[in-house]
Amino acid sequence: MKITIQNLTKKFPARNKKGKEVVAVDNMSIEIPSGKLVGLLGPSGCGKSTSLFMISGLESPTSGKIFFDDQDVTTLAAERRGVGLVFQNYALYPHMTVEGNIMFPLTNMRLPKEEAKQRALEAAQLVQIEDLMQRKPSELSGGQQQRVAIARALVKMPNVLLLDEPLSNLDARLRLQTREEIKRIQRETGITTVFVTHDQEEAMSICDIMVVMKLGVVQQVGAPQAIYDNPTNLFVANFLGTPPINIFEGEVKSGKIYIGDEAVLDTEVPDQKVYVGIRPEGFIYDENGAFSLNLDHIEVMGRDKTIVTAHGKSQKPTVRSIIDSDIYVNDQSPVVKFNLKPNKVFLFNAETEERIR
Ligand SMILES: Nc1ncnc2c1ncn2[C@@H]1O[C@H](COP(=O)(O)OP(=O)(O)O)[C@@H](O)[C@H]1O
Ligand SMILES: [Mg+2]
Repeated sequence: MKITIQNLTKKFPARNKKGKEVVAVDNMSIEIPSGKLVGLLGPSGCGKSTSLFMISGLESPTSGKIFFDDQDVTTLAAERRGVGLVFQNYALYPHMTVEGNIMFPLTNMRLPKEEAKQRALEAAQLVQIEDLMQRKPSELSGGQQQRVAIARALVKMPNVLLLDEPLSNLDARLRLQTREEIKRIQRETGITTVFVTHDQEEAMSICDIMVVMKLGVVQQVGAPQAIYDNPTNLFVANFLGTPPINIFEGEVKSGKIYIGDEAVLDTEVPDQKVYVGIRPEGFIYDENGAFSLNLDHIEVMGRDKTIVTAHGKSQKPTVRSIIDSDIYVNDQSPVVKFNLKPNKVFLFNAETEERIR
């Protein structure tokens, strides 16, 4: 099922006289291809859940349209859209068994009990909890409970699966494991899935397509790697990547990018004030490098060596770079020099923060 979203806007009225109207989602237009796993990504409050609720039908838009394939579902009731929903807090019925929980949407539709049981078993097998059918939710771990919630969403064989921060309540290890599970389940079922998260690593690791949002406005849509390699503005560049991108105030003068008084890289961009963004993997250690940094300390992170340095000039942002060569540390002089990989360096207009290189 393809989802098309056209100029979707949601405004919430001011809560009181002094309050201001909130534009939770601002003129969103995206196309979600059939059978893909799409991530809605952005900081808390940027309108992800509101977008998801409008797709599900739980929230109605102020303006704009939503299509499932060619059908306009903008005003269609939630229960008639064929969507499965999973929330952060599993919302299981505590007095029912796992089987009862998974069967609930079907018995609610008055499906014969034997058929409901059979379909519940199939959904449970898909998320690999078929051995837990007779337990109560309180007898399950968080990860198992979330699997039950996913099975319950899948049992109706929805056209669209909507997941709102489904991993937030799980501990770090389980979060990793469960996100791989979600990817597998999505692949096996081929259900068009929208996955909401504020965690860029999570979105990057499992999504086919990411939609990056800020203050209700879609900033960029694309494959995770494509957005990482070609961020459209400073916000997106900053939001993606671990360790995060390094940002410096800089200036372009006669074909060179200056950070402080050092010309760190050539460029064809016209003279102007810029922000220079350098990905951590964009540094090449070189004794005669163009860009000097004051070494603070080295963090060894298994395969990668992450060095943390402080720039020695007027501005002192903490720089995190990942390099694969050994650094020779001279106790007398903490200065280390680098050259930069051109495709890992981005320039942003100092006022609009839009990408210019
Ligand atoms: N029912 C509501 N009434 C008023 N404001 C709301 C309501 N729901 C969400 N908002 C506001 O809309 C904005 C987007 O919220 P939300 O979609 O929940 O963001 P996210 O899921 O990205 O954290 C926030 O500023 C939030 O406070
Ligand atoms: Mg939310």
